[in-house]
Amino acid sequence: MNREMIRLTVNGDPYELLASPRQTLLDVIRGPLGLTGTKEGCTTGSCGVCTVHNASGEAVLSCLTPALEWDGEAVTTIEGLETSGRLDEIQQAFIDHHAVQCGFCTPGVIMSARAVLNEHPSPQMDQINDGMSGVICRCTGHIKVREAIRAVGSKLDRRV
Ligand code: FES
Ligand code: FES
Repeated sequence: MNREMIRLTVNGDPYELLASPRQTLLDVIRGPLGLTGTKEGCTTGSCGVCTVHNASGEAVLSCLTPALEWDGEAVTTIEGLETSGRLDEIQQAFIDHHAVQCGFCTPGVIMSARAVLNEHPSPQMDQINDGMSGVICRCTGHIKVREAIRAVGSKLDRRV
């Protein structure tokens, strides 16, 4: 299979690597880049564990994204969410509100939660539910996750 050189900016760092037409962004992130925080689940767009962000901070299902189509683009993975060694506020809120679930689903849940807050800094519950509808956990509830997202939004409310 012919492979092509692509350029990606991942968590602020530039990379050049070879990718084939069959490889997804998820394959590249977990394979050559070695960023295994992003998980591989269904690979059909149904579970959300592969969620990363595009340059606008929007949620992207990396299992459905052909790597070649992302030549020249920027992506943020769970490893890039903290800045200067400090957790992102949604990561801290997950800890504070006991919303951390298993290591398999939590990265995608957090990336989706951050994307909700990027789009709606002080989200209503229907916006939270809508933004989180693509991430699935079959073992526990999502109440604590919603509470953590709402808490970050409420903090912003108080800052205004
Ligand atoms: S692995 Fe991408 S949505 Fe399930
Ligand atoms: S899939 Fe992670 S806690 Fe359910």
